[in-house]
Amino acid sequence: MKKLTSALLIAGFTAASSAALAGDVSLGKSLYTSCASCHGAKAQGQGMFPQLNNLSEEEFITSMGFYKSGDQEGLRALGRGLGEGYYGIMAPSAASLSDRDIADLAAYINSL
Ligand code: HEC
Repeated sequence: MKKLTSALLIAGFTAASSAALAGDVSLGKSLYTSCASCHGAKAQGQGMFPQLNNLSEEEFITSMGFYKSGDQEGLRALGRGLGEGYYGIMAPSAASLSDRDIADLAAYINSL
């Protein structure tokens, strides 16, 4: 019985810690201030800057990962990477973000 109790406790802790890994909307909101001048206040997109608030969190995270790692082929396979010069405009914005930052941004953009 003791063993069962500790197994349940461990399961509970694991569930709690994976919930903690989910993106934080308010942290994402403050990170997004550096993106709004291009993508728009509500991530609605404008001109050459694509709309972001129509992407699922998973699409957003995958796309940001490609900008961060410089995988332009990956972006094109997703139907992103609109033009040669466009990639270079976006890539610096992804370069310094951690996976945690990207998860927070994904949660915020998904909340818009
Ligand atoms: C200087 C303008 C600029 C800034 C600032 C900027 N972006 Fe971008 N972003 C672009 C451009 C241009 C593209 C299209 C690039 C391409 O075609 O590859 C883009 C593309 C993207 C895409 C891909 C969209 C899709 O359909 O997959 C995502 C996601 C994205 N940006 C997120 C962000 C986030 C998050 C920030 C802030 C941390 C940010 N961008 C800051 C210009 C910018």
